[in-house]
Amino acid sequence: MKGSKSIYVCTECEYKTTKWMGKCPSCGAWNSMEEQEEYLAETAAQGKASARHALFSSAVDTGADAIPFDALEIPTYMRSETGLGELDRVLGGGLVLGSVVLLSGEPGIGKSTMLMQVSATLGKTRRVLYISGEESQGQLKLRARRLEVQGSNLYLCIETNIRNILRQTDKVKPDVLIVDSIQTIYNDEINSAPGSVTQVKEAAMALIHKAKNEGISVLLVGHVNKEGGIAGPKVLEHMVDAVIYFEGERQQSYRIIRAIKNRYGSTNEIGVFEMTDTGLSEVENPSEMLLSGRPQGVSGNCAVCVIEGSRPIVAEIQALVTQTPFPSPRRSSTGIDYNRLQMLLAVLEKRLALRFSTNDAYLNVIGGLRLEEPAADLAAALALISSLKDRVLPDDLVAIGELGLAGEVRAVSCIEQRVRECARLGFTRIVIPKKNAEAKSLHVEGVELFPVVSIYETLSFFA
Ligand code: TYD
Ligand code: MG
Repeated sequence: MKGSKSIYVCTECEYKTTKWMGKCPSCGAWNSMEEQEEYLAETAAQGKASARHALFSSAVDTGADAIPFDALEIPTYMRSETGLGELDRVLGGGLVLGSVVLLSGEPGIGKSTMLMQVSATLGKTRRVLYISGEESQGQLKLRARRLEVQGSNLYLCIETNIRNILRQTDKVKPDVLIVDSIQTIYNDEINSAPGSVTQVKEAAMALIHKAKNEGISVLLVGHVNKEGGIAGPKVLEHMVDAVIYFEGERQQSYRIIRAIKNRYGSTNEIGVFEMTDTGLSEVENPSEMLLSGRPQGVSGNCAVCVIEGSRPIVAEIQALVTQTPFPSPRRSSTGIDYNRLQMLLAVLEKRLALRFSTNDAYLNVIGGLRLEEPAADLAAALALISSLKDRVLPDDLVAIGELGLAGEVRAVSCIEQRVRECARLGFTRIVIPKKNAEAKSLHVEGVELFPVVSIYETLSFFA
């Protein structure tokens, strides 16, 4: 266009500059600059402002009077079961009617599979419109046959243009709208490629607007980028009611979902699935799955029990500590925060005079689970010591406790629930923080408890 100039807009924070930069000077993101024509960036910004105004104007202009907080009523949400109990649990008890949920994860992890399974159950009682911008009718039919999905209430549309999607939505009048994926949807009035920040935002905005105005539940698929975030703008996460993230490794058959945002429930719950020939099947006993194939009599392993939402889950932490000739040893951690690993190593060096500085250290949680609870500290530390010393821990031992910087073992929550789950799985020796044992006397049949004050006391368990 005559006289139009290109500008660069940061996809993370919308910082604008006339020159391309590798790193955004405003938010510090790398490689986040996207080229846009200046007048389009301006119209997009204005369009957004007016769309946003339209979106919220009904809330602004109702002339509502302020009421006392005490007079507020607890809302009752209408929920639909999705047929996958584990997903319902993560959503807070089923899909809330009229809510917008973003389902994100790496390609091939099972997002389309899950949504097709869900549409079969929802289609029994509600009208479902499945928009696919990624697969052909043939591919979808094959998957539907494999998953035994059918029903006269299910509608399918292969489309990527938002205008036709909205038209089809008006025609079909669904209760549930599934869009796979938001990155393929585009608005032909905007001169930027599908998948770009402007397109993703516009498409999501239009769908959310429609959903909220007409009370449609929307399930959006969002791909993740290299860094593990949802590709496209961060603002997408703010626009939706719930964000559900697929964790775990694609190479393994287990899949874990977690809500990282949920306006209608807690974000602590996880759902565990196994990918089978006939789709995702629920795993009712995640601990058993996580412990299956556990190596016996090998150094560097320790079992731990963490609380995920309302459930205790027993998992296994593995460590590998090997000598390195290089001056800066390697540290790598999967499933546990990297900084937590650094802290544990520092505590062990200082308090137990163990030398990790000449060793590489790797830490891994089996099964693709992410442990965020400090209660996993003690088990991680024991796995590290076990590998460093090449001394084996008993197979029937579980270690529970948070490690302080002085090497003290600090109390954790829900100790009784954890001990019972360990006992159920056949563990007979459980190391717990002394403070927990003092606060409450615990007796579980067939289990010996070892209350400890510091990490030093646990050294006697090494063979
Ligand atoms: P898919 O759901 O298409 O992943 P996404 O939409 O997240 O990209 O498929 C995930 C993988 O699962 C794919 O490699 C094939 C496999 N799969 C099964 O193992 N069993 C099944 O029943 C289906 C439908 C897929
Ligand atoms: Mg897919």
